[in-house]
Amino acid sequence: MYSRIAGTGSYLPEKVLTNHDLEKMFDTSDEWIRERTGIGQRHIAAEGQTTVDLGLEAARRAMAAAGVAPEDLDLIVFGTTTPDQVFPNCGTLLQERLGGHSFPAMGVEAACSGFIYALSIADKFVRLGDAKCALVVGAETLSRIVDWTDRGTAILFGDGAGAVVLKATEEPGIISTHLRSDGAYKDLLYCPVGPSKGFAPDASGRTPMFIHMAGNEVFKIAVKSLGSIVDETLAANGLDKSAIDWLVPHQANIRIIQATAKKLDIPLERVILTVHEHGNTSAASVPLALDAGVRSGQIKRGDLLLLEAFGGGFTWGSALIRY
Ligand code: ACO
Repeated sequence: MYSRIAGTGSYLPEKVLTNHDLEKMFDTSDEWIRERTGIGQRHIAAEGQTTVDLGLEAARRAMAAAGVAPEDLDLIVFGTTTPDQVFPNCGTLLQERLGGHSFPAMGVEAACSGFIYALSIADKFVRLGDAKCALVVGAETLSRIVDWTDRGTAILFGDGAGAVVLKATEEPGIISTHLRSDGAYKDLLYCPVGPSKGFAPDASGRTPMFIHMAGNEVFKIAVKSLGSIVDETLAANGLDKSAIDWLVPHQANIRIIQATAKKLDIPLERVILTVHEHGNTSAASVPLALDAGVRSGQIKRGDLLLLEAFGGGFTWGSALIRY
């Protein structure tokens, strides 16, 4: 038994914050941001609009594309780093919003790799016969934990959601998933507060509910880790890199994406690129790009896709998929 992607969906909040808007907030320029990151704008959730609100829109679109009703679902796995509340988890909150009952629904926290982790978990439920129709969501309201005075991080992140419906099938589908993490890098990219550690102000008197990042080091390790996970994925399946039809990468930075594409000898024409449109949306980024590729008609049934992501932890991972 395998799982296959039966439908994709995504959602971006209405409000757009352009690089020119950021120029008015701190010392930066559209040119600098585009050149270093490829980002032109990011979407920002409206006041009161939560991660589950975003995930719900993406889920509805994925379910419509798959021809699936809420009562058909038997699993929800929801990847996010910015949950609505500590508990219930976002998967369960989404289940309630969809009108579902009693099947398992969970949240997965793996920073920007959250969707790949969620996809891998759902795939294993389906392979083991524990689910036949799973909803996998990656959604974030990262704007809530961005320090909007820090030009080193504020230029990068945005809000959004993406989702896929997985159905059980006898032919893959999801061929393999590969997950990695290494907490030795916990101090390079993190948000330092939580219910257990507390929310006390830092030395400067600010509540530090912000993303902290050593951008340069993150950049180098991301390039290296994504290069090796791509190699590992191809080797595990006895494939040459020329077999990949589409690279669907985590949309963090165009230069990281270019480095992975180069490693695969894939021209950028065969890479799904949406980073200019929404910046780094963490767990939402890969399913947003996947949905864009499917809806634009670039990705077609039967194509071989390589999805990859890298994020805080560090966590990283990949999925090889016959679409
Ligand atoms: N506008 C203008 N100048 C800036 C800005 C800005 N927004 N940010 C930094 N600078 C300046 C710095 O102050 C520095 O100036 P100096 O030389 O006078 O000291 C100069 O630009 C170079 O700074 P660096 O930090 O070395 O710039 P770099 O080329 O590394 O680019 C960036 C910074 C874009 C953050 C890059 O390191 C990066 O993209 N890193 C990866 C980050 C990432 O993708 N993280 C997410 C992956 S994991 C996840 O998704 C959670």
